[in-house]
Amino acid sequence: GTADIGVTGLAVMGRNLARNFARHGYTVAVHNRSVAKTRSLVEEAGHEGTFVASESMADFVASLARPRKVVVMVKAGGPTDAVIEELVPLLEQGDIVIDAGNAHFPDTIRREKALRAHGLHFVGTGVSGGEEGALNGPSIMPGGTRESYTWLGPILEDIAAKVDGVPCCTYVGPDGAGHFVKMVHNGIEYADMQLIAEAYDLLRQGLGASAQEIGEIFARWNTGDLESFLIEITADVLGHVDAKTGQAFVDVVLDQAEQKGTGRWTVQNGLDLGVPITGIAEATFARALSGGVPQREAARSALPADAEPWSVPDREAFVEDVRLALYASKVVAYSQGFDQIAAASAENGWDIDRGAMARIWRGGCIIRARFLNRITEAYERDPQLPLLLADPYFTDAVAGGLAAWRRVVAAAATHGVPTPAFSSSLAYYDGVRAQRLPAALIQAQRDFFGAHTYRRVDRDGTFHTEWSGDRTESEA
Ligand code: 6PG
Repeated sequence: GTADIGVTGLAVMGRNLARNFARHGYTVAVHNRSVAKTRSLVEEAGHEGTFVASESMADFVASLARPRKVVVMVKAGGPTDAVIEELVPLLEQGDIVIDAGNAHFPDTIRREKALRAHGLHFVGTGVSGGEEGALNGPSIMPGGTRESYTWLGPILEDIAAKVDGVPCCTYVGPDGAGHFVKMVHNGIEYADMQLIAEAYDLLRQGLGASAQEIGEIFARWNTGDLESFLIEITADVLGHVDAKTGQAFVDVVLDQAEQKGTGRWTVQNGLDLGVPITGIAEATFARALSGGVPQREAARSALPADAEPWSVPDREAFVEDVRLALYASKVVAYSQGFDQIAAASAENGWDIDRGAMARIWRGGCIIRARFLNRITEAYERDPQLPLLLADPYFTDAVAGGLAAWRRVVAAAATHGVPTPAFSSSLAYYDGVRAQRLPAALIQAQRDFFGAHTYRRVDRDGTFHTEWSGDRTESEA
């Protein structure tokens, strides 16, 4: 065969990735379970480059130059396993299978191991940027062997988004590392979206401003530190008017947020690792709360607010406070996400370069943002940085907005506006910087009721007090 790369699974993401490869001059083998999709791709996009269409998996594999590079772009879970099972007997030593779907990283670890036993490379790769990104340049987060990256890297870097000429694609780490990083990307995406939603709600309730007016505020914010894809589309969405009713579009959308599960996986993994990713967790739970229809029905009529009506006196100052609170909370959410990457990297021996992750998220992906440059710089200053918040740039940036952040969270509580992500991020900030935490009391309680022992501030060792007896202390 002669094709440079193949794509099987030609729903919109696979189709757009195949077109992206073709537009960059690669000969692209294409295959889909139902032949109609393959035909329509070649009919509609054939002029964009060179496609080699196959109706059977065997012909598809045979059309590829070795080592074969096969991108699998089907639904995560069972469908991905089914395609891999069909592919493996057709492949030869050194060929590379690339799973570009949103797979759960433990599945990727399992599949990589299984394919390695067949002498094949398995590359689980995160691809972010939706349909548009897949076609015009996504952010790409490939895992797997380094050797596979020497073959695959140049092609992926070619089709990835570029920022200042630098591709938004780099080798992430072994086996599940790529899909893990994509998962955390999505968790951060949830946190970013929730923070923006809370900022919008505060402006709406505090100022009594219209969606349109708030859209204009977001558009203005998008020219500063907050500049990002999500802020930009928020401005756009808030300006949109529903054609049927003439109302602001955001007012005709049902307020029950859904998810496909990557945020939930991120939170589950945060719990497994014991890393406090409270921003992501609150964002995920906020979606769950919004979707809890019976609970909301019961609460809406029964639970009083006992809160003061809200009318902000100095509107400009309040807008600036919310902007600063949003930025500070966003820094916390990213700081927590990068902590999670560090912990998983250590646990799995992935050796993930966090600065490089921020670099490849600067373009193409959903969380692309100007401030990611700052994260890359922070990890360049100190690759072992234990806490992103403790990097001088971020410490200063947050400190500058700290008073505003406290005012916003306090006002939200006073007036009964829920800001789970804003408030929990501030609580995290105050918790992580505390000289002493009431965790000491927790330890004493645990020792009291369960003889779970404690350590002391003044001596090494593990101790237990005879709480029900004479309260003597013994070394455990
Ligand atoms: C991306 C997105 C993409 C998808 C999310 C949506 O990076 O391109 O993150 O992967 O849009 O999975 O997630 P929910 O449906 O869970 O909100």
